[in-house]
Amino acid sequence: MLEKVNKLVEKVNGFTPNSEEELNNFRIEYLGKKGLLNDLFSAFKEVPSDQKKDFGAAINNLKILVQNKIEEYKDSFEVETENSEIDLSKPVSLDNLGSRHPISLIRNEIVDIFNRIGFTISEGPEIEDDWHNFSALNLPKEHPARDMQDTFFIQTDPDVLLRTHTSSVQVRYMNENNPPIRTLSPGRVYRNEAISARAHCIFHQVEGLYIDENVSFADLKQCLLYFAKEMFGEKTKIRLRPSYFPFTEPSAEVDVSCNICSGKGCNVCKNTGYLEILGCGMVDPNVLENCGIDSKKYSGYAFGMGIERIAMLKYGVNDLRLFFENDVRFLKQFSSL
Ligand code: DAH
Repeated sequence: MLEKVNKLVEKVNGFTPNSEEELNNFRIEYLGKKGLLNDLFSAFKEVPSDQKKDFGAAINNLKILVQNKIEEYKDSFEVETENSEIDLSKPVSLDNLGSRHPISLIRNEIVDIFNRIGFTISEGPEIEDDWHNFSALNLPKEHPARDMQDTFFIQTDPDVLLRTHTSSVQVRYMNENNPPIRTLSPGRVYRNEAISARAHCIFHQVEGLYIDENVSFADLKQCLLYFAKEMFGEKTKIRLRPSYFPFTEPSAEVDVSCNICSGKGCNVCKNTGYLEILGCGMVDPNVLENCGIDSKKYSGYAFGMGIERIAMLKYGVNDLRLFFENDVRFLKQFSSL
């Protein structure tokens, strides 16, 4: 009897399946209901008691050997879809579904909000020239306001740079389209800034531009109030502070009432009750002329906002770097949005 088991051990050791079918037959031959191992276990009763110990150990050993062999080869064969046991109609497991990046979520939300009042989307290149990023926007060479945006230049050509804002798309759009113009330009921008919780060398902006006859500052204010309420809630208030941008005159910075303390004052809004969200103004007539639009006939407004800034306020994120690290523990928190 023992000899028979030893022979089977040798056979199992020398067995290499060439197909899933062969492996399956092997499993049935040894482990099936009417298989060799069951026969051996049944034969165990008839074995003289002084040999029971050795025989028992031998058949257990054989069983483990067979199981290991099956384990070793079970994943080696390609899954055949035809005749296989895969049920293609089964619902998929949703455990490892990815999620949209919070910056994409906010970008899409901003785009949606402005789409509803007739803004179309336009895009421009991230590698820009001096004219579109600066000069056409009323920032001639040596203009001190250029220092506000630390620029990455392409070393070999000072005329070529990574755009520092999406305002460059305004210029391109006005060159190619006649008023009325109502466009929104989301995109990535670059600045030579030290990376910290509040600043990064890469970030995202959305630029808005509206040009038509008789566009007034009141239109701008109403448009931004609509945006703030849609983005941060019906009760949101806005506040415009006079400011300076070379491409708009007059210019303003816009604050929204703090959605954390509802304007009462907290450490996020530094007890002011307001948070800055964007810059805006009436497009400077020089910019219109630079882009081939008659500034006597047309006027318009423009605004620009940082997507990260809006995302930080909306989701209560206090470190900008989290948006760029792609740590799944952070990203997963946005999976149901
Ligand atoms: N381009 C400005 C920046 O990056 C933002 C901005 C301000 C855009 C005022 C505008 C505007 O269109 O009118 O800081």
